[in-house]
Amino acid sequence: MKKSEAQQKIKALTKNLQQWNVEYYENDAPSVDDAEYDSALNELKQLETQFPELITPNSPTQRVGGFVAQKFEKYTHRSPMLSLSNAFSKEDLIEFDQQVQKATGKISHDYFVELKIDGLSIALIYENGRLFKAVTRGDGITGEDVTANVKMIKAIPHTIDNLNNGTVEVRGEVYLSKHEFEKINQQRAENDEALFANPRNAAAGTLRQLDARVVESRNLQAFLYFYMNRESKAVPTHADSLNLIEQLGFPINKEGRLCKNIEQVWDYIVEYTESRSKLPYEIDGIVIKINDFNLYEKIGYTSKSPKWAIAFKFPAEIKTTQILDIFPTIGRTGRVTYNAKLEPVQIAGTIVRAATLHNADFIESRDIRIKSQVKIKKAGDIIPEVIGVIQDESFSSLPIWSPATTCPNCSSELERSEGEVDQYCINSKCPSIIMRSLQHFTSRDATNIEGLSIKILEKLYDQGFIKDVADIFTLSQHHQDIIQLDNFGEKSYANLVAAIEKSKNNSCERLLFGLGIRHVGKKTAKILAKNYKSIKNLVKINVDDLAVIYDIGSVVAQSVVDWFAIEENLSVIAKLEALNVNLDYFSNNDTQVHKDFQNKIFVITGTLSKSRNYYRELLENLGARVTDSVSKNTNYLLAGQDSGSKLGKAESLGVKIITEIDLKDLMEEK
Ligand code: IVH
Repeated sequence: MKKSEAQQKIKALTKNLQQWNVEYYENDAPSVDDAEYDSALNELKQLETQFPELITPNSPTQRVGGFVAQKFEKYTHRSPMLSLSNAFSKEDLIEFDQQVQKATGKISHDYFVELKIDGLSIALIYENGRLFKAVTRGDGITGEDVTANVKMIKAIPHTIDNLNNGTVEVRGEVYLSKHEFEKINQQRAENDEALFANPRNAAAGTLRQLDARVVESRNLQAFLYFYMNRESKAVPTHADSLNLIEQLGFPINKEGRLCKNIEQVWDYIVEYTESRSKLPYEIDGIVIKINDFNLYEKIGYTSKSPKWAIAFKFPAEIKTTQILDIFPTIGRTGRVTYNAKLEPVQIAGTIVRAATLHNADFIESRDIRIKSQVKIKKAGDIIPEVIGVIQDESFSSLPIWSPATTCPNCSSELERSEGEVDQYCINSKCPSIIMRSLQHFTSRDATNIEGLSIKILEKLYDQGFIKDVADIFTLSQHHQDIIQLDNFGEKSYANLVAAIEKSKNNSCERLLFGLGIRHVGKKTAKILAKNYKSIKNLVKINVDDLAVIYDIGSVVAQSVVDWFAIEENLSVIAKLEALNVNLDYFSNNDTQVHKDFQNKIFVITGTLSKSRNYYRELLENLGARVTDSVSKNTNYLLAGQDSGSKLGKAESLGVKIITEIDLKDLMEEK
């Protein structure tokens, strides 16, 4: 599309979306359903990706819920969110203790020590017991209003006891567990998306998502550690305030400890320096706080941080090593990732030989060159990261690195669209793309065919036995040829054939995930399978049908439709069917389909006592379908508090409206 055309289109879409926003958020009376809204928003996003220079700060893509300037609305903190000054040694702590003694005139103090959670700080403000605002730290004075996203964090209560009949503010840290972080990155790798460098980045990226449903799916967690209404006589110490925070229903970290002096503080630090790798979340230090609130004002503040607390920071494990080589690899979707081969170096207990350099931008902006000396850090003790180049004497004589222009596997020209950081190999016959797709297809969460390592797949591909994923199911026709291959005896052949046969009877979500449709991860594949019962039913599906399914956004819907529109893909499906590979969904054995729920269409809205995901799973397991928007086909609207426009629409269409209690009653009427 030409730029002038795009500009016209963007203008028209923006105008519509702005009007729909007013209807939805201000007038509570939308004139279009969610699917139409999503599809317009998606079209706008795609045009803006193509022509980033046409993005305006007022674009609906830059706003959450339509009404926020520059992505999220700004919120000025009720009192500044300060940071902590740092200590790096026992001596620094002794000095801190002495300064506290000087300020208070007392020779000993109780300290409360706790873990410094490596997440991002959040302020939660409750008005009359209801969550009113959730705000990021920002610059300490003004943060971003991320209330809609924070409401998706299961551990954060939407209502609390209405203390002091007014405003209660609690601050803490939002974080992702190491396990969740790995899961997200694994999924991103499966979808061939760029990986998050560490749990902190992943948590920050998640909280700043414009789509709150993504937040819901990512299992963010939180620890609260700072009660702002300290004037209350009921909480004279930090330890008491933590008890109160817990009583109010917030998660608190249980590793905290009251220490009588700096020696005990030091013991705690030594203990956790040892055991931090066993914790399920990342910490980057220890926070030491005076326990007695009465001393806070006496000890005072600097402009940036309180003097009654200090953060002991663990030394980051940084090592210097040399880049031996920089090489590109091609993912399943053709995306290029650059990797560095390193002179092996020991960091945080393991030997690091390679590090990802992400994309060409990453390398160029840091001026990383082959043979240069670089500093390496194991980000979050997980992925080795290059943090900088040492520009020593020999550096200037090294040739400047330049990105690959052709695919290392098929030599076709690499593409990089304007405004995109990633380069792509777009040759669908590229052996690397085919190999990665085959590998993905046979992986554990997909068809789970054991015995097809990448080496064996390469051999079978080179010999011409496999050209596409369906050919895997023809391998039993090549008995004699295959057992002649290196490392392949009768026994391994028999095992492989048995594994392939077994995989033919998988429920279809595994196959669907294995096909590698962009944006269709494991969870989406399951949702599609559950709702459409067979891959065959997806062949003729259109975007509008798909987008009404709860949790299927317009981007996913478009991607599925696009995939099934490609002739080659349809012939793979036909080939799979002809080879007796199951294409249908088998619901869980433990699923108890309920006659009153079977094939009924539900919409969920408002604030419920459990997450929407919880109810969606429950209803789907009972045989119902859950969709996103109310229409005349909707059978029930499950409505919680603050139900908004969906409630109005359901009323006007005569859709039955039920509460959580009604739902429970319905389920019991079996
Ligand atoms: S107390 C006045 N306690 O570390 C500041 N902070 O630079 C009170 N953090 O911005 C902060 N775990 O995001 C405190 N147990 C903990 C913490 C913690 C992590 C973060 C917080 C803050 C930064 C301090």
